[in-house]
Amino acid sequence: MIVIKNQNEIEAMRRAGAIANQVLHDVANFVEPGLTTLEVDQYAADRIAHYGAKSAFYGYQVGRLKYPRHACISVNEEVVHGMGSSRLLEFGDIVSIDIGVTYGGFIGDNALTVPVGVVTAEDRRLMDVTQLSLERAVLAAIPGNRISDISQAVQAVVESNGFSIVREFVGHGVGRDMHEEPQIPNFCDPSMKRNSPELRPGMTLAIEPMVNAGVRSVKTLSDRWTVVTQDGKRSAHFEHTVLITEGEPEILTCKENLCLMQKK
Ligand code: MF3
Ligand code: CO
Repeated sequence: MIVIKNQNEIEAMRRAGAIANQVLHDVANFVEPGLTTLEVDQYAADRIAHYGAKSAFYGYQVGRLKYPRHACISVNEEVVHGMGSSRLLEFGDIVSIDIGVTYGGFIGDNALTVPVGVVTAEDRRLMDVTQLSLERAVLAAIPGNRISDISQAVQAVVESNGFSIVREFVGHGVGRDMHEEPQIPNFCDPSMKRNSPELRPGMTLAIEPMVNAGVRSVKTLSDRWTVVTQDGKRSAHFEHTVLITEGEPEILTCKENLCLMQKK
């Protein structure tokens, strides 16, 4: 069942989303060569606490496995769920930062990939295409469309630019829980189209393309969390939490909404 949020719940999602996005930008600005990814994770933890929120990732349970970090920091060939470690950020790396926070009982989930210092033109293109695919996907998030229209929008941008889409991980509904229905694949085939859910006002969706420079296949490291590309080539990840409205979609992971926090 897909949860439809009421006005109060949407207000709460705006607050959680604003904090998630502010923290994401705080962390992105903190990134520089010579830091360990654990230092980046600790900074994320500090910023989340600064805004009175909690990490939605810390202690997140999959089976009997609990995620032991406050953010996901994925470098170069790491696709998602990179765990802060002694790995040093180097000039020329690209780093994906994924921040999920809980505030007032609701979750905001967002991610981006940034360069560490200066990166190659091809890395820049990988990041730009991934971001564009998210932007096109958000534009498709309107009533009358289906989830598959979001998927198709991502796929069209990514594949026409010669990159590949990770299939093992998908976007998702988000609200009181980090992973609600529906799943939002970043690719679409005809069989998926037929029973794809219709988008309705009040749905809140985390749309998150994960895009590889090389092959689409990925594997999980022996740490049980870190997902890396099979071929060792680089990967980028962008994510927003989005509200379906009667009209244009509203991006809830929007730091400009932090001003909402002052009023009560
Ligand atoms: N944004 C990711 C997701 O939606 C982050 C989850 S990391 C986890 O799945 F460790 F908490 F699982
Ligand atoms: Co997510």
